[in-house]
Amino acid sequence: MQKDLNTIVANVREKTPAIKTRAEFEAYKATISGPRGVLTDIMKGMGKVPKEDKPAIGKAINEAKMAVEAAFATVIEGLEAAELAAKIGTAIDPTLPSPDSTRGTLHPISQVREEMVDLFRRIGFSVAEATEVESEHYCFDALNIPADHPARDMQDSYYLPDDLSVNNVSKEGEEKYLLRTHTSSVQIRTMLKQKPPVRIVAPGRCFRRDTPDATHSANFHQIEGLYVDKDVTLLDLKATLDHFVKTIFGPKAKTRLRPSFFPFTEPSFEMDFFSPDLGKLSNKWLEIMGCGMVDPKVFKAVGIDPEVYTGYAFGMGIERIAMILQGVDDIRYYYQNDVRFLKQFA
Ligand code: PHE
Repeated sequence: MQKDLNTIVANVREKTPAIKTRAEFEAYKATISGPRGVLTDIMKGMGKVPKEDKPAIGKAINEAKMAVEAAFATVIEGLEAAELAAKIGTAIDPTLPSPDSTRGTLHPISQVREEMVDLFRRIGFSVAEATEVESEHYCFDALNIPADHPARDMQDSYYLPDDLSVNNVSKEGEEKYLLRTHTSSVQIRTMLKQKPPVRIVAPGRCFRRDTPDATHSANFHQIEGLYVDKDVTLLDLKATLDHFVKTIFGPKAKTRLRPSFFPFTEPSFEMDFFSPDLGKLSNKWLEIMGCGMVDPKVFKAVGIDPEVYTGYAFGMGIERIAMILQGVDDIRYYYQNDVRFLKQFA
Protein backbone atom coordinates (compact mmCIF):
# COMPACT_ATOMS: atom_id res chain seq x y z
CA MET A 1 0.00 0.00 0.00
CA GLN A 2 2.75 2.47 0.97
CA LYS A 3 4.45 1.57 -2.30
CA ASP A 4 1.28 2.31 -4.29
CA LEU A 5 0.94 5.65 -2.54
CA ASN A 6 4.57 6.52 -3.27
CA THR A 7 4.07 5.67 -6.91
CA ILE A 8 0.99 7.88 -7.12
CA VAL A 9 2.74 10.83 -5.49
CA ALA A 10 5.81 10.39 -7.71
CA ASN A 11 3.60 10.21 -10.79
CA VAL A 12 1.70 13.37 -9.79
CA ARG A 13 4.94 15.25 -9.16
CA GLU A 14 6.32 14.17 -12.49
CA LYS A 15 3.24 14.85 -14.62
CA THR A 16 1.76 18.04 -13.19
CA PRO A 17 4.53 20.49 -14.18
CA ALA A 18 3.84 19.74 -17.84
CA ILE A 19 0.10 20.52 -17.66
CA LYS A 20 -0.77 23.51 -19.86
CA THR A 21 -4.57 23.83 -19.88
CA ARG A 22 -7.53 23.52 -17.51
CA ALA A 23 -8.95 20.65 -19.56
CA GLU A 24 -5.71 18.73 -19.36
CA PHE A 25 -5.61 19.34 -15.65
CA GLU A 26 -9.20 18.19 -15.04
CA ALA A 27 -8.63 15.02 -17.05
CA TYR A 28 -5.45 14.18 -15.17
CA LYS A 29 -6.92 15.04 -11.79
CA ALA A 30 -9.83 12.65 -12.46
CA THR A 31 -7.40 9.73 -12.84
CA ILE A 32 -5.99 10.46 -9.36
CA SER A 33 -8.70 11.83 -7.10
CA GLY A 34 -11.86 11.56 -9.22
CA PRO A 35 -14.53 8.95 -8.30
CA ARG A 36 -12.53 6.29 -10.13
CA GLY A 37 -9.11 7.73 -9.41
CA VAL A 38 -6.26 5.60 -8.11
CA LEU A 39 -6.01 7.49 -4.86
CA THR A 40 -9.77 7.28 -4.36
CA ASP A 41 -9.52 3.52 -4.84
CA ILE A 42 -6.99 3.21 -2.08
CA MET A 43 -9.11 5.33 0.23
CA LYS A 44 -12.13 3.14 -0.47
CA GLY A 45 -10.02 0.14 0.57
CA MET A 46 -9.57 1.56 4.08
CA GLY A 47 -12.66 -0.35 5.22
CA LYS A 48 -10.94 -3.69 4.67
CA VAL A 49 -7.74 -2.76 6.48
CA PRO A 50 -7.28 -4.61 9.81
CA LYS A 51 -8.03 -2.41 12.81
CA GLU A 52 -4.47 -2.35 14.18
CA ASP A 53 -3.07 -1.16 10.82
CA LYS A 54 -5.62 1.63 10.40
CA PRO A 55 -3.75 4.49 12.14
CA ALA A 56 -0.52 3.94 10.17
CA ILE A 57 -2.27 3.48 6.85
CA GLY A 58 -4.62 6.37 7.48
CA LYS A 59 -1.62 8.56 8.14
CA ALA A 60 0.15 7.42 4.96
CA ILE A 61 -2.96 8.08 2.89
CA ASN A 62 -3.34 11.52 4.41
CA GLU A 63 0.23 12.43 3.63
CA ALA A 64 -0.16 11.27 0.05
CA LYS A 65 -3.38 13.23 -0.26
CA MET A 66 -1.72 16.38 1.00
CA ALA A 67 1.21 15.98 -1.37
CA VAL A 68 -1.18 15.50 -4.28
CA GLU A 69 -3.28 18.51 -3.28
CA ALA A 70 -0.20 20.68 -2.99
CA ALA A 71 0.91 19.68 -6.49
CA PHE A 72 -2.58 20.40 -7.84
CA ALA A 73 -2.62 23.81 -6.14
CA THR A 74 0.66 24.65 -7.86
CA VAL A 75 -0.86 23.70 -11.20
CA ILE A 76 -3.88 25.96 -10.58
CA GLU A 77 -1.61 28.82 -9.56
CA GLY A 78 0.41 28.42 -12.74
CA LEU A 79 -2.73 28.23 -14.88
CA GLU A 80 -4.18 31.33 -13.26
CA ALA A 81 -0.96 33.30 -13.71
CA ALA A 82 -0.81 32.23 -17.37
CA GLU A 83 -4.46 33.20 -17.92
CA LEU A 84 -3.87 36.60 -16.34
CA ALA A 85 -0.71 37.15 -18.37
CA ALA A 86 -2.62 36.23 -21.54
CA LYS A 87 -5.30 38.77 -20.63
CA ILE A 88 -2.83 41.55 -19.91
CA GLY A 89 -0.53 40.66 -22.74
CA THR A 90 2.69 40.47 -20.76
CA ALA A 91 4.09 38.06 -18.27
CA ILE A 92 4.02 39.25 -14.67
CA ASP A 93 7.10 38.98 -12.57
CA PRO A 94 5.98 39.23 -8.96
CA THR A 95 9.59 39.39 -7.78
CA LEU A 96 10.22 42.81 -9.32
CA PRO A 97 10.44 45.59 -6.71
CA SER A 98 7.36 47.74 -6.27
CA PRO A 99 7.67 51.15 -7.98
CA ASP A 100 6.83 52.67 -4.60
CA SER A 101 8.94 50.96 -2.00
CA THR A 102 7.98 53.09 1.02
CA ARG A 103 6.84 50.90 3.85
CA GLY A 104 3.27 51.13 5.02
CA THR A 105 2.51 52.83 8.34
CA LEU A 106 -0.47 53.09 10.62
CA HIS A 107 -3.30 55.12 9.15
CA PRO A 108 -3.25 58.72 10.46
CA ILE A 109 -6.51 58.11 12.34
CA SER A 110 -5.04 55.01 13.98
CA GLN A 111 -1.91 56.96 14.90
CA VAL A 112 -3.96 59.55 16.75
CA ARG A 113 -6.15 56.87 18.35
CA GLU A 114 -3.04 55.09 19.65
CA GLU A 115 -1.61 58.33 21.00
CA MET A 116 -4.86 59.06 22.86
CA VAL A 117 -5.26 55.54 24.19
CA ASP A 118 -1.63 55.47 25.40
CA LEU A 119 -2.11 58.72 27.23
CA PHE A 120 -5.15 57.41 29.11
CA ARG A 121 -3.46 54.07 29.78
CA ARG A 122 -0.62 55.86 31.51
CA ILE A 123 -3.07 57.40 33.98
CA GLY A 124 -4.80 54.16 34.87
CA PHE A 125 -7.49 53.66 32.22
CA SER A 126 -7.86 50.30 30.54
CA VAL A 127 -9.26 49.73 27.07
CA ALA A 128 -12.79 48.39 26.57
CA GLU A 129 -14.38 47.42 23.27
CA ALA A 130 -17.79 46.27 22.16
CA THR A 131 -19.70 45.55 19.00
CA GLU A 132 -20.40 48.02 16.18
CA VAL A 133 -23.84 46.48 15.71
CA GLU A 134 -25.96 47.39 18.71
CA SER A 135 -29.49 46.94 19.93
CA GLU A 136 -31.55 50.04 20.70
CA HIS A 137 -31.34 49.16 24.37
CA TYR A 138 -27.55 49.57 24.63
CA CYS A 139 -27.31 52.45 22.18
CA PHE A 140 -30.25 54.47 23.55
CA ASP A 141 -32.61 53.18 26.26
CA ALA A 142 -30.02 52.27 28.89
CA LEU A 143 -28.44 55.67 28.24
CA ASN A 144 -31.72 57.39 29.06
CA ILE A 145 -32.15 58.57 25.47
CA PRO A 146 -35.89 59.10 25.02
CA ALA A 147 -38.00 57.65 22.20
CA ASP A 148 -38.39 61.03 20.49
CA HIS A 149 -34.68 61.87 20.45
CA PRO A 150 -33.49 62.67 16.90
CA ALA A 151 -30.70 60.05 17.05
CA ARG A 152 -33.41 57.38 17.19
CA ASP A 153 -34.89 58.48 13.90
CA MET A 154 -34.42 56.43 10.72
CA GLN A 155 -33.20 59.67 9.15
CA ASP A 156 -30.26 59.85 11.51
CA SER A 157 -29.17 56.30 12.23
CA TYR A 158 -28.57 53.13 10.26
CA TYR A 159 -31.07 50.49 11.33
CA LEU A 160 -30.64 46.90 10.24
CA PRO A 161 -33.38 44.70 8.77
CA ASP A 162 -35.81 43.20 11.30
CA ASP A 163 -35.14 39.63 10.25
CA LEU A 164 -31.39 39.89 10.72
CA SER A 165 -29.88 37.72 13.42
CA VAL A 166 -26.68 38.73 15.14
CA ASN A 167 -25.13 36.03 17.26
CA ASN A 168 -23.31 38.05 19.86
CA VAL A 169 -25.80 40.88 20.37
CA SER A 170 -29.15 40.08 21.91
CA LYS A 171 -32.32 42.09 21.45
CA GLU A 172 -35.80 41.83 22.80
CA GLY A 173 -39.26 41.89 21.23
CA GLU A 174 -39.81 44.80 18.87
CA GLU A 175 -36.36 46.19 19.46
CA LYS A 176 -34.20 46.90 16.40
CA TYR A 177 -30.56 46.45 15.60
CA LEU A 178 -28.60 49.43 14.38
CA LEU A 179 -25.02 50.49 13.78
CA ARG A 180 -23.94 52.26 16.95
CA THR A 181 -24.18 56.03 16.70
CA HIS A 182 -21.66 56.64 19.49
CA THR A 183 -19.31 54.68 21.72
CA SER A 184 -21.44 55.47 24.77
CA SER A 185 -23.00 52.01 24.35
CA VAL A 186 -19.67 50.65 25.62
CA GLN A 187 -20.30 52.43 28.95
CA ILE A 188 -23.36 50.24 29.45
CA ARG A 189 -21.72 47.01 28.33
CA THR A 190 -18.73 47.66 30.57
CA MET A 191 -20.75 48.52 33.69
CA LEU A 192 -22.85 45.39 33.27
CA LYS A 193 -19.71 43.25 33.24
CA GLN A 194 -17.57 45.02 35.77
CA LYS A 195 -18.30 46.32 39.26
CA PRO A 196 -16.83 49.72 40.26
CA PRO A 197 -14.17 50.97 40.28
CA VAL A 198 -14.42 51.20 36.50
CA ARG A 199 -11.91 53.27 34.58
CA ILE A 200 -11.98 52.67 30.84
CA VAL A 201 -11.53 54.28 27.47
CA ALA A 202 -13.36 52.77 24.51
CA PRO A 203 -12.09 53.65 21.06
CA GLY A 204 -14.24 52.56 18.15
CA ARG A 205 -16.07 53.09 14.91
CA CYS A 206 -19.47 54.81 14.87
CA PHE A 207 -22.06 55.47 12.19
CA ARG A 208 -24.52 58.25 11.49
CA ARG A 209 -26.58 59.11 8.44
CA ASP A 210 -24.78 62.40 7.84
CA THR A 211 -24.45 63.86 4.38
CA PRO A 212 -20.70 63.76 3.83
CA ASP A 213 -19.00 67.14 3.76
CA ALA A 214 -15.70 68.57 5.00
CA THR A 215 -16.50 67.82 8.64
CA HIS A 216 -19.05 64.97 8.48
CA SER A 217 -18.72 61.36 7.50
CA ALA A 218 -21.29 58.59 7.83
CA ASN A 219 -18.57 56.47 9.37
CA PHE A 220 -16.23 57.99 11.95
CA HIS A 221 -14.44 57.12 15.19
CA GLN A 222 -14.89 58.11 18.80
CA ILE A 223 -13.14 57.56 22.08
CA GLU A 224 -15.34 57.19 25.11
CA GLY A 225 -14.08 57.61 28.65
CA LEU A 226 -15.76 56.40 31.84
CA TYR A 227 -14.66 56.54 35.45
CA VAL A 228 -16.94 55.22 38.19
CA ASP A 229 -15.99 54.93 41.85
CA LYS A 230 -16.89 56.33 45.26
CA ASP A 231 -16.44 60.11 45.45
CA VAL A 232 -15.68 60.82 41.80
CA THR A 233 -16.32 64.53 41.26
CA LEU A 234 -16.44 67.07 38.48
CA LEU A 235 -12.99 68.17 39.60
CA ASP A 236 -11.63 64.73 38.65
CA LEU A 237 -13.17 65.09 35.21
CA LYS A 238 -11.78 68.58 34.71
CA ALA A 239 -8.29 67.54 35.88
CA THR A 240 -8.22 64.50 33.59
CA LEU A 241 -9.37 66.49 30.56
CA ASP A 242 -6.85 69.26 31.33
CA HIS A 243 -4.10 66.66 31.38
CA PHE A 244 -5.36 65.17 28.12
CA VAL A 245 -5.47 68.52 26.34
CA LYS A 246 -2.05 69.67 27.60
CA THR A 247 -0.43 66.40 26.57
CA ILE A 248 -1.99 66.34 23.10
CA PHE A 249 -2.06 70.03 22.18
CA GLY A 250 0.83 71.47 24.15
CA PRO A 251 1.51 72.57 27.74
CA LYS A 252 0.14 76.06 27.15
CA ALA A 253 -3.31 74.81 26.18
CA LYS A 254 -6.31 75.84 28.30
CA THR A 255 -9.70 74.17 28.66
CA ARG A 256 -13.18 75.35 29.50
CA LEU A 257 -16.43 73.52 30.20
CA ARG A 258 -19.62 75.00 28.76
CA PRO A 259 -23.02 73.84 30.06
CA SER A 260 -24.72 71.49 27.61
CA PHE A 261 -27.12 68.58 27.62
CA PHE A 262 -26.83 64.82 27.16
CA PRO A 263 -29.52 62.45 28.44
CA PHE A 264 -26.90 60.20 30.06
CA THR A 265 -24.92 62.82 31.98
CA GLU A 266 -26.05 65.39 34.56
CA PRO A 267 -24.65 67.97 34.63
CA SER A 268 -23.42 67.88 31.01
CA PHE A 269 -20.80 70.00 29.27
CA GLU A 270 -19.08 70.68 26.01
CA MET A 271 -15.39 71.00 26.48
CA ASP A 272 -13.46 73.58 24.46
CA PHE A 273 -9.76 74.18 24.42
CA PHE A 274 -7.53 77.00 23.38
CA SER A 275 -3.87 76.69 22.43
CA PRO A 276 -1.34 79.26 21.28
CA ASP A 277 0.71 76.58 19.47
CA LEU A 278 -1.62 75.39 16.75
CA GLY A 279 -0.71 77.36 13.63
CA LYS A 280 -3.83 78.60 11.90
CA LEU A 281 -6.03 77.35 14.71
CA SER A 282 -4.14 79.13 17.48
CA ASN A 283 -5.92 81.48 19.83
CA LYS A 284 -9.41 80.22 19.04
CA TRP A 285 -11.62 78.19 21.34
CA LEU A 286 -12.23 74.83 19.67
CA GLU A 287 -14.99 72.50 20.78
CA ILE A 288 -13.75 68.90 21.04
CA MET A 289 -15.93 66.76 23.25
CA GLY A 290 -19.07 66.15 25.23
CA CYS A 291 -18.79 65.13 28.87
CA GLY A 292 -20.45 65.20 32.26
CA MET A 293 -21.27 63.29 35.42
CA VAL A 294 -22.97 59.93 34.84
CA ASP A 295 -26.73 60.35 35.23
CA PRO A 296 -28.21 58.31 38.13
CA LYS A 297 -30.71 56.83 35.66
CA VAL A 298 -27.83 55.23 33.76
CA PHE A 299 -26.48 53.72 37.00
CA LYS A 300 -29.94 52.31 37.72
CA ALA A 301 -30.10 50.75 34.24
CA VAL A 302 -26.94 48.76 34.98
CA GLY A 303 -27.62 47.97 38.62
CA ILE A 304 -25.09 50.31 40.23
CA ASP A 305 -26.29 52.21 43.31
CA PRO A 306 -26.15 55.97 42.57
CA GLU A 307 -26.25 56.67 46.32
CA VAL A 308 -22.89 54.93 46.70
CA TYR A 309 -21.11 55.60 43.42
CA THR A 310 -20.58 58.59 41.18
CA GLY A 311 -18.76 58.84 37.88
CA TYR A 312 -17.85 60.92 34.92
CA ALA A 313 -18.01 60.17 31.19
CA PHE A 314 -16.69 61.87 28.10
CA GLY A 315 -16.79 61.18 24.38
CA MET A 316 -14.99 62.73 21.45
CA GLY A 317 -14.44 62.24 17.74
CA ILE A 318 -10.98 60.93 16.84
CA GLU A 319 -11.17 62.52 13.38
CA ARG A 320 -11.83 65.91 14.95
CA ILE A 321 -8.67 65.65 17.11
CA ALA A 322 -6.67 64.26 14.18
CA MET A 323 -7.75 67.09 11.87
CA ILE A 324 -6.62 69.70 14.42
CA LEU A 325 -3.31 67.95 15.10
CA GLN A 326 -2.51 67.11 11.52
CA GLY A 327 -3.81 70.32 9.96
CA VAL A 328 -6.27 68.44 7.75
CA ASP A 329 -9.25 70.55 6.67
CA ASP A 330 -11.44 67.91 5.02
CA ILE A 331 -12.41 64.70 6.84
CA ARG A 332 -12.92 62.89 3.52
CA TYR A 333 -9.16 62.76 2.90
CA TYR A 334 -8.91 60.15 5.63
CA TYR A 335 -11.05 57.66 3.75
CA GLN A 336 -9.88 57.99 0.17
CA ASN A 337 -6.81 55.77 0.49
CA ASP A 338 -4.76 58.18 -1.54
CA VAL A 339 -1.08 57.43 -0.88
CA ARG A 340 -0.13 61.01 -1.63
CA PHE A 341 -2.17 62.00 1.43
CA LEU A 342 -1.30 59.02 3.62
CA LYS A 343 2.45 59.29 2.96
CA GLN A 344 2.59 62.64 4.72
CA PHE A 345 1.95 60.84 8.00
CA ALA A 346 4.53 58.09 7.54
N1 PHE B 1 -22.04 60.25 23.11
C1 PHE B 1 -21.93 61.69 23.00
C2 PHE B 1 -21.91 62.03 21.49
O1 PHE B 1 -21.71 61.17 20.67
C3 PHE B 1 -20.70 62.24 23.65
C4 PHE B 1 -20.68 62.07 25.15
C5 PHE B 1 -20.08 60.96 25.72
C6 PHE B 1 -21.26 63.03 25.97
C7 PHE B 1 -20.04 60.81 27.08
C8 PHE B 1 -21.23 62.89 27.34
C9 PHE B 1 -20.62 61.80 27.89
O2 PHE B 1 -22.09 63.17 21.12
